[in-house]
Amino acid sequence: MSKPRVLVARRIFPEVMARLGEHFECVANDADAVFSPAELSQRLAGCWGVLTTGSERIDDALLQANPQLRAVCNMAVGYNNIDVAACRAHDVVCTNTPDVLTETTADFGFALLLATARRITEAEAYLRAGRWDRWSVDMMIGPDVHGSTLGVLGMGRIGQAIAKRGAHGFGMDVIYHNRSRLDAPTESACKARYVSKDQLLMQADHLMIVVPYSPSAHHAIGGAELAQMKPTATLINIARGGVVDDAALAQALQTGVIAAAGLDVFEGEPQVHPELLNCRNVVLTPHIASASRATRLAMATLAADNLVALATTQQALTPVPEGLTGWAA
Ligand code: GLV
Repeated sequence: MSKPRVLVARRIFPEVMARLGEHFECVANDADAVFSPAELSQRLAGCWGVLTTGSERIDDALLQANPQLRAVCNMAVGYNNIDVAACRAHDVVCTNTPDVLTETTADFGFALLLATARRITEAEAYLRAGRWDRWSVDMMIGPDVHGSTLGVLGMGRIGQAIAKRGAHGFGMDVIYHNRSRLDAPTESACKARYVSKDQLLMQADHLMIVVPYSPSAHHAIGGAELAQMKPTATLINIARGGVVDDAALAQALQTGVIAAAGLDVFEGEPQVHPELLNCRNVVLTPHIASASRATRLAMATLAADNLVALATTQQALTPVPEGLTGWAA
């Protein structure tokens, strides 16, 4: 019997391709091009499944053009590139890669927080530009991280891992806001206190955004929210572009509404709002929070394992949660 055909939409690890090859006829993308919607639709011709990354958009038009498609396995915990409701309507199963990236992503959130608050990239640029000619008492001074108040917006797995680092590693007072309050044992393990969104914005010295993208989270942090924050505060976004209004943030950074920001995700990435590029007090990284080798390999393997499980047992290992959609229309 011939093997089902699967498109692997971006270049992934050879060992994962080899695993997929045991079960599927794989269509690879060795050039690692980001397909336009039309190209993606064409490449999916005859495919039963696809391994996507956050760069591929799976929408109703694409599903209509490819009625043979049954499985969309995303190599990311977020899935706002996928219209989950349309997939359900077309009888297509969607999976994501939760858990395997939690600790690595939390490490990165903390790295970005430290780099931003302690002005590490700004200081390095100053040194490399040959401007460092003496020690001075107030050169590159900034706020402390240890002992300060960490606000976490979005207390899922990654938010909890960040809260634990803050509370247990840095002696921070951790407050959080979430759609629903955590149970008491989880709050106590994270040493975190539930507060309203207003309190979170007003009290945090460092605000970490870890909320998944959904239409209701669009611009959850805009001009009005930034104005509620302390002028000394830092804001870190490792969630998704679109949760923060990047234009409003750039303006807030330029006018001293908040002190600094660290961003790993952007509206319309890989484009970055030009005004953010003009800001001295922002640390910018190209969506790499999960980018340790071990974690990226684990993510690719889990996406591939989902395809194999669906083909062999009709059961996904990590289907996207029922009733949730992160779809960015
Ligand atoms: C990365 O952004 C992910 O959603 O896994």
